[in-house]
Amino acid sequence: MTRTYEEYRELLESHLLDYFPTMDPRVGVLREAMAYSLEAGGKRIRPVMLLAACEFGGADYREALPYAVAIEYIHTYSLIHDDLPAMDNDDLRRGKPTNHKAFGEDMAILAGDALLNTAMEVMMRNLTLHFDDHEKLMNCVRAALTICKAAGVTGMIAGQVADVKSLSDDADSHIIDFIEANKTGALLRAPVIAGLRIAGVGKNVIMDFDRYAENLGKAFQISDDILDIESDPETLGKSIGKDVEEGKCNYALVNGLDAARAELDALTEDSVKALEKYGEDADFFTRLAEMLRDRDH
Ligand code: IPE
Ligand code: IPE
Ligand code: MG
Ligand code: MG
Ligand code: MG
Repeated sequence: MTRTYEEYRELLESHLLDYFPTMDPRVGVLREAMAYSLEAGGKRIRPVMLLAACEFGGADYREALPYAVAIEYIHTYSLIHDDLPAMDNDDLRRGKPTNHKAFGEDMAILAGDALLNTAMEVMMRNLTLHFDDHEKLMNCVRAALTICKAAGVTGMIAGQVADVKSLSDDADSHIIDFIEANKTGALLRAPVIAGLRIAGVGKNVIMDFDRYAENLGKAFQISDDILDIESDPETLGKSIGKDVEEGKCNYALVNGLDAARAELDALTEDSVKALEKYGEDADFFTRLAEMLRDRDH
């Protein structure tokens, strides 16, 4: 594989708004609110992983672009809703005022809804291009389903429910694991699998990469929990100290920072190990796991 993280990120960003439907000028404010959160930045980890996984599987990144865009729309919607006063009540996201601070709660709710719905439209429109190629169609249907499921009631939404209903006082390791695996892990696992599905790789490769991504997904939330304690808003682009304030089931708050770091290292190691047999071919993914372990934002 020859492309770098930065190259994939640029490819994604140069097409991020291409998939917006033409909207009536009377709902211009909705378009503005959708674009505001998408263009505020973000690391673009999910779409980058999707594009890279597709190319690892031997297909051209262009085949995966609509799905990469769709998952970034879904992730961005989840952040807009996560920040609402009824959820985490945050003022800062991606270094800018949160969507509801800029556009009001009503428009932030609708912009989130709109990004989710647009993501579904983008994927389904792509499926219609493959009606004359049954194998390609089935690969893309599987990719779309992987993404829909990860965003839904057995994935991210389930994790968010557990997050808002659980407090650190009554946390046990099972509920923290459930929260990590679902609110965050699901949407980091899905793009890896979806990218490989689009390329039509075999079951064994999917299983290895699923183990990689499952560990990486949980590790990512643990580092998010550590950064909520240790970072600063300028570096992170979002407020800090919120989890302690709200009594959230933050891994590092419940188990201590040392235990959190040890678990982050162990999960990263397991993640890398899952791809050992691919040697240098999987360098992009193993380096990504280490980069996410060591990130400061
Ligand atoms: C933040 O995700 C929310 C979590 C799932 C922990 P990211 O850290 O990927 O946020 P952006 O996309 O870079 O803003
Ligand atoms: C949110 O987790 C994960 C989502 C589904 C958006 P957090 O609430 O910890 O994410 P941040 O810290 O606000 O980005
Ligand atoms: Mg939250
Ligand atoms: Mg939050
Ligand atoms: Mg957090």
